[in-house]
Amino acid sequence: MKRLLYIQSSPREERSYSKIVADTFVDAYLKIHPKDKIKTIDLFKLRLPPFDGDVINAKYAIMNGKQHTEEQKKAWAQVEKFIEQFKKADKYVFSIPMWNFGIPYKLKHYIDIITQPSYTFSYSPQDGYKGLVLGRPALCVYARGGEYTPGTPAEAYDFQSKYFNNALGFIGFTDIKSIFVQGTLYGPEAAEKAKSAAIEEARKIAETF
Ligand SMILES: Cc1cc2nc3c(=O)[nH]c(=O)nc-3n(C[C@H](O)[C@H](O)[C@H](O)COP(=O)(O)O)c2cc1C
Repeated sequence: MKRLLYIQSSPREERSYSKIVADTFVDAYLKIHPKDKIKTIDLFKLRLPPFDGDVINAKYAIMNGKQHTEEQKKAWAQVEKFIEQFKKADKYVFSIPMWNFGIPYKLKHYIDIITQPSYTFSYSPQDGYKGLVLGRPALCVYARGGEYTPGTPAEAYDFQSKYFNNALGFIGFTDIKSIFVQGTLYGPEAAEKAKSAAIEEARKIAETF
């Protein structure tokens, strides 16, 4: 039995293209792996601790090799809870809208919570930075209103997939698959076509994920 963590980052619920495609993937995956466990997190419904005060001081204490104060310990326990949940999974699916060329702030907040020294990455002067979330596949479903196809001038504005794939790579992921639902704001026909192609791709990836 494997655990698949499905993280959603669009608040548009049933209208979200990234969610529709990722849902299709998860359904297809479950048909093939009926005994696997799916844990779904909707980031717009999750209360993440603000990354300030005792939480950020606790992070710097770890980086500087210092002990946590009692307040920092308490605040850090919240962060550890989310990291533990994240690291428990064997496989990952993310549904990700493009917002202002990047990712929604809730997903950025989540990354700020789970990207922590000695938990999801390590650093030493000899080895530099090393990811600690190893040997696990991830699928990212990226939706965007426009088109940012590689090789076109618009590609330079894609701080969504470039940023997020790098954020995953930093904490150790090497097997990252991406599906793009592009042009969702180019009218219903174009959106439908992009969605259908992405769904087909999702079903195919599910066969070997
Ligand atoms: C706050 C906000 C910012 C957006 N910024 C961009 C953008 O920079 N480029 C783009 O192509 N589309 C942009 N869009 C459109 C979304 O990327 C598009 O609607 C996409 O389908 C959203 O994913 P979803 O359908 O999974 O929610 C933006 C939408 C919102 C709500």
